[in-house]
Amino acid sequence: MGDLILGIETSCDETAAAVVERASTVRSSVVNSQVDLHARFGGVVPEVASRAHVELMVPVVAEALLAAGLEGPEVDAVAATTGPGLVGSLLVGVTAAKSLALVWDVPFVSVNHLEAHLYAAFLEEPDLELPLVVLLVSGGHTMLVLMEGHGKYRLLGSTLDDAAGEAFDKVARYLGLDYPGGPAIDALAMEGDASAFKYPRALVQENPATLPDDRRFAFSFSGLKTAVVNHVRNEPDVAAADVAASFQEAVVDALVTKARWAVEATGAKGLCLGGGVAANSRLRERFLDVCMETGVRAFLPSRAMCTDNAAMVAAAGWWRLQSDGPSPLDTGANPNWALPLLP
Ligand code: KG4
Ligand code: ZN
Repeated sequence: MGDLILGIETSCDETAAAVVERASTVRSSVVNSQVDLHARFGGVVPEVASRAHVELMVPVVAEALLAAGLEGPEVDAVAATTGPGLVGSLLVGVTAAKSLALVWDVPFVSVNHLEAHLYAAFLEEPDLELPLVVLLVSGGHTMLVLMEGHGKYRLLGSTLDDAAGEAFDKVARYLGLDYPGGPAIDALAMEGDASAFKYPRALVQENPATLPDDRRFAFSFSGLKTAVVNHVRNEPDVAAADVAASFQEAVVDALVTKARWAVEATGAKGLCLGGGVAANSRLRERFLDVCMETGVRAFLPSRAMCTDNAAMVAAAGWWRLQSDGPSPLDTGANPNWALPLLP
């Protein structure tokens, strides 16, 4: 089976294409972010996103092929994110990938976006040992996954309400910061005092055993967001940098505490971070502390690999092709597709 995969990613507001060899060597990775296009609306506007994907799809794929030194028909398969994500955006990438697969007469591979995030780490560290606990934190998802083998995942816990990135974006908007809010809070927090305010850490206790089984590795950020908003409303002159730093500390506390519990409970060999929020400076710092304390091997993908890109889609696609073979050409976009879990 072929080793050179063209990956395509259009699940949200990044139009991306990449060429990856054997899920480990990135030959090219092009990411065209539409962030400036959506900034004036304070969030991703689905219709604007899909129109931009249509315009950018061909040039982005052409650039990825060119940068990899290819003309196109030499790729062995075409993989695309088919879900979860915005349906109009997904359809652009899925249609492009299936058309190319058909024209080049190579397999098409449907890739789950969350599985792709799990594979981002393997691109930079192909020797990662399993089982591995992955803390996946993005704008749409916050979950702790135990990766037992390739394609074999157990969900340890996920958020009961807002995703961590969503909480960052909402609090940032309330503080009048630029979109996207995560990087804005990250930057502002550097000038603030993280211990200025003690905001709530939901579902975090001294002893994990005191939490019910289905809540032990779960997260909740909506109460924290409300606490911050109420605080600022009652105290409008409070230093925004202190609020940002204290809020960020509360989110990071919950994330790293549960990641540590997960490693302790599963005996995993490694702990790995993924998703857009994994770019957060404080989370990266505290994550390394946890790995030092537990003696487990840490893996922190580069910021470029944490945020949406097509190299991770190509890597996950290669593994899926080995295990399941090509996907049928009538595979459509699946906006609510969950991470495929072990029974
Ligand atoms: O994975 P991603 O690129 O897109 C998906 O949601 O799939 O993640 C985007 C999220 C946004 O909520 C953004 O605010 C957040 O990641 N983010 C950050 C940082 N950089 C991006 N959050 C906190 N600190 C950052 N430095
Ligand atoms: Zn993502």
